[in-house]
Amino acid sequence: MMTQVPLQIAALDTAEHDRSQFTCGVLALDRYLREQVSQDIRRRVAACFVAISGPSRVSGYYTLAAASVPLTDLPADLRRKLPRYRAIPAVRMGRLAVDIAFKGQGLGGVLLVDALRRAAHSEIPAVALIVDAKDEQAAAFYQHHGFMTLADSPLTLFLPLAGI
Ligand SMILES: CC(C)(COP(=O)(O)OP(=O)(O)OC[C@H]1O[C@@H](n2cnc3c(N)ncnc32)[C@H](O)[C@@H]1OP(=O)(O)O)[C@@H](O)C(=O)NCCC(=O)NCCS
Repeated sequence: MMTQVPLQIAALDTAEHDRSQFTCGVLALDRYLREQVSQDIRRRVAACFVAISGPSRVSGYYTLAAASVPLTDLPADLRRKLPRYRAIPAVRMGRLAVDIAFKGQGLGGVLLVDALRRAAHSEIPAVALIVDAKDEQAAAFYQHHGFMTLADSPLTLFLPLAGI
């Protein structure tokens, strides 16, 4: 039920937030949060935002990073509204995961909206949020939320940020 979903979302605090129990069903995504994300944050390769349940338990997370997309990968109707630069600025949500204890309660959708808001309201503008879906099921989740596939890469999807 929606009421059980924690809505506190914040930048990962590696000293405060408990990531040790996080299990989303995809080992690589669990390991990344436990073992690798701090280094990526330190090196400015990615930012990580977490949903917190209880005092400090991480129940979901996503990462954001700067990206660029070749103009020719975008659909013609969007391309027409853009200058003819070779590549356009974007924000990439590299990872998104929800703990199995919290799945199916809307938290994935809440995290996705939070990511879209952050990308749309950044002082550094970007044309779209892009995501790398790890498989077709993940791609279906993003399509359910209005994302479209980039030309020639069915597992890379985007959503324009204008109007968010
Ligand atoms: C994908 C994931 C993040 C979804 O999180 P979640 O909290 O269970 O999803 P939600 O409860 O927020 O679902 C939101 C909506 O998406 C829909 N949805 C969820 N998974 C879907 C799928 N695979 N295909 C289509 N729609 C899907 C739900 O039906 C729901 O629809 P509604 O808002 O109209 O009711 C989660 O299942 C997860 O962590 N999976 C493992 C990691 C993963 O696959 N990450 C994807 C990025 S690579």
